[in-house]
Amino acid sequence: MINNLFDSVQLGNIDLKNRIVMPPMTRSRTEKGDIPSKINADYYSQRASAGLIIAEATQISLQAQGYSLTPGIYTDEQISGWKLVTGAVHAKGGKIFLQLWHVGRVSNSHVNGMQPVAPSAILAKETNVYVIEDGEANFLPTDMPRELSVDEIKNIVTDYSVAAKNAINAGFDGVEIHGGNGYLIDQFLRSNSNKRKDEYGGSIENRVRFVLEVTKAVVEAVGAERTGVRLAPFITAKDMGDPEILEAITLASKGINDLDAVYLHLSEADFDDAPEIPDSFRVKLRAAFTNSIIATGRYNLQRAQDMLETGWVDMIGFGRLYIANPDLVERFKNDGPYNELRTIGWFGGDEVGFTDYPNL
Ligand SMILES: Cc1cc2nc3c(=O)[nH]c(=O)nc-3n(C[C@H](O)[C@H](O)[C@H](O)COP(=O)(O)O)c2cc1C
Repeated sequence: MINNLFDSVQLGNIDLKNRIVMPPMTRSRTEKGDIPSKINADYYSQRASAGLIIAEATQISLQAQGYSLTPGIYTDEQISGWKLVTGAVHAKGGKIFLQLWHVGRVSNSHVNGMQPVAPSAILAKETNVYVIEDGEANFLPTDMPRELSVDEIKNIVTDYSVAAKNAINAGFDGVEIHGGNGYLIDQFLRSNSNKRKDEYGGSIENRVRFVLEVTKAVVEAVGAERTGVRLAPFITAKDMGDPEILEAITLASKGINDLDAVYLHLSEADFDDAPEIPDSFRVKLRAAFTNSIIATGRYNLQRAQDMLETGWVDMIGFGRLYIANPDLVERFKNDGPYNELRTIGWFGGDEVGFTDYPNL
């Protein structure tokens, strides 16, 4: 049977009403203490007709933060704030996961008062982070990170599992481990950002160790049926070009499959960094991973239907289309029209460019 975007699908123990996913998108609208509030609940509940929402990247600790105004999931106040969001989405029959985030070296001490940490003390060249100081927003270059000790790595693995439990307490249906887009897990995977000489670096097996330890810890904390992982095999932004990345991602995918994680989410485009993914890679991934595969990056209705028909993926994410079209499912059913995406309000600000896009 050929999969269709509008078909329902089972994800672990939950039923999704369609295969349309709203992927995680940082929108930088939290209150003091990195706490989500009513405006975030409005934004996500407007989009609750998606089969699955994956809420924006959310730091698992203060150290994990790389940009101002991104939400956290490590204080009671943050958990309470997220309850507003999950309650509003569930009230409309939606399902919502939370993306768990550690930025590693993609940070600046002006964000959280700390020197960034990384597998190795290597700067991410030509990489900026969004910082608000004294009410003024600026993009600042990342700071030189310091190398994590093995004890610190083990503590971060624990931070992921605590954050995952917090997310479930906040009412999320599951969590997505952010293993892509140049952040901490991706920094461990790649030979250009990971020059460690211990069990976390050197060979591909060693570079894959961190993502598998994190996945195992999260699976043990909240269950494999509530654990997804996002990886970004072809993306090179944030100084992440690495000739060995495909081998590392393939090995990581097999390990994640052995841990029975409920989905693997391919990040196929990070803004303009949108390389073509060869069919041969998709075939290999489908063979390596038994549970659901989500693909996100430059899809429209037609490309999404074509991709589902190949059988290589099970669900499709639509990022920028979801910023501009809260009722994207209904618009797809009508084959449009679509609101135009405005540049205002992508990161930070108020309801303008956030909750003010109209329904059909
Ligand atoms: C404003 C914005 C914020 C984003 N923030 C995140 C994020 O927090 N986590 C993540 O994994 N990807 C993030 N992304 C990437 C998207 O999830 C998605 O992969 C990307 O937009 C490509 O899909 P599209 O072409 O359908 O927009 C972001 C993208 C945009 C446009």
